[in-house]
Amino acid sequence: MSSNYIRIFDTSLRDGEQAPGASMTSAEKLEVARALARLGVDVIEAGFPAASPDDLAAVQAIAAEVGQTPVEGRPQAEPPIVCGLARCTRNDIQTAWEGVKGAKHPRIHTFLATSDIHLQHKLRMTRPEVVARATEMVAFAKSLCADVEFSPEDAGRSDPEFLYEVLAAVIKAGATTLNIPDTVGYTLPDEFGALIAGIIKNTPGAKDVIISVHCHDDLGLAVANSLAGLRAGARQAEVTVNGIGERAGNASLEELVMALRTRADKLGLQTGIDAKQLCRVSKLISRTTSYPVPPNKAIVGANAFAHESGIHQDGMIKNAQTYEIMRPEDVGATQTTLVLGKHSGRNAVSKRLAELGYPLEGEALARAFAEFKKLADRKKSVHDADLIALASDERTQAPELWTLQDLQVACGTTGLPTATVRLKGPDGKLHVHAAVGTGPVDATYKAIDHIVRTHVQLLEFVVSAVTEGIDALGEVSVRVRQDDQRSSHGHGTDTDIIVASAKAYLAAVNLVLSRQTGAPVHAQKSSVPADQPVS
Ligand code: KIV
Ligand code: ZN
Repeated sequence: MSSNYIRIFDTSLRDGEQAPGASMTSAEKLEVARALARLGVDVIEAGFPAASPDDLAAVQAIAAEVGQTPVEGRPQAEPPIVCGLARCTRNDIQTAWEGVKGAKHPRIHTFLATSDIHLQHKLRMTRPEVVARATEMVAFAKSLCADVEFSPEDAGRSDPEFLYEVLAAVIKAGATTLNIPDTVGYTLPDEFGALIAGIIKNTPGAKDVIISVHCHDDLGLAVANSLAGLRAGARQAEVTVNGIGERAGNASLEELVMALRTRADKLGLQTGIDAKQLCRVSKLISRTTSYPVPPNKAIVGANAFAHESGIHQDGMIKNAQTYEIMRPEDVGATQTTLVLGKHSGRNAVSKRLAELGYPLEGEALARAFAEFKKLADRKKSVHDADLIALASDERTQAPELWTLQDLQVACGTTGLPTATVRLKGPDGKLHVHAAVGTGPVDATYKAIDHIVRTHVQLLEFVVSAVTEGIDALGEVSVRVRQDDQRSSHGHGTDTDIIVASAKAYLAAVNLVLSRQTGAPVHAQKSSVPADQPVS
């Protein structure tokens, strides 16, 4: 591997999932891991197996499938490394090993804080105790797995001399990657670069292992700090898609990768990422976590390549390089192209879906095609983004305990907003209820609550347009919570925004109910039984 190669370690499924409300189902995690592997990431941090049996099962599923599947375009088509996080305890490390051992290239990532603030107030440990614990636990991890990563948590605020001591000890104990986290996003780029340079220079054995950077974005400096660390000699970057993560999030994968690529003249570093997939993976993460991408987000935002002012448009017409430092197609942000309409056949739809990275087959394809036909009847033109929305709906659904059959709303400036909802229940029967609310969405949700006989708190409700124009496909993401349970999210798409709202709410409610009943959450929709009489 070239000495200028930067390993991309994606932690969207672990640190990213720690963003409030961003939790994903096992099926969604598997879907994301497949997409990350296709994108070309070198390491997938699949989760924190000791956190819950669900996390362990998700990591095992990813290790068994994604961690064993060759990826075209990667060196020797090797599957990515699958990594599991563990605190410095035997139980965590053993559980992390249970999670990742099914992968062809498993990794255990263990961490222990090294800053005085954490030692004094959180761990209540002395420095010698930290060195002893880290050494013992890295040695234990090494007895299970050849590839061991160690992170001194809050390294950005740790005494560098103490870091050299801890890191030298864990290298001796068998660590092969040393990850340096700026856990609270406190450092400035020159400081973080100097920290990495100091570690490489002063830690015995540091030149024989990979040094990694892991930066948080509390001051908006995560990518800048990561770049400074890489310029100082680090050769792995820990990032998340769309920069999701704790608080202000982590360094964003797409921004870091495109900075390395666009400024290769200055930086001279490369990654194995297929940048053309960046926008697609960004959308997938946004949908599965219900974290919308702001329009002005670098690289993947809807306006990242939009030019509004006359002067800019004039320059663009004359030569795109006047106002663009990257080509939209380089990151997969091709202008939405009109490819399909209501006369298009199943083969054309299936082929275009496969080109977009959604190779649907059998019943899944039949359902997506039926949805496409309905959409094509309502819209003059179906864009790639519409197709991606339909395909993603198909692939990341909670079990359909309740399905929407019909919805009718009456609303306006006079009268009471009223919704009549007809749902098919898990018993296969149809249930109808009409409710009044403060608006059409509220009325719809009240009617659903009444039929389903559950009450959830709506924490978040986000509406966005998938494509431009009056006939755009609308997308609604909701996040709900019942009592003290963890929050569940759902999304729905339709040209009618109230129908999309109902679908999103029902998907989230189905997830809440499936967690209560223990019903499995599938990556594919279950088949819908024939209509039954109204109960
Ligand atoms: O930010 C952090 O310190 C972490 C560690 C677990 C690597 O996420
Ligand atoms: Zn972190």
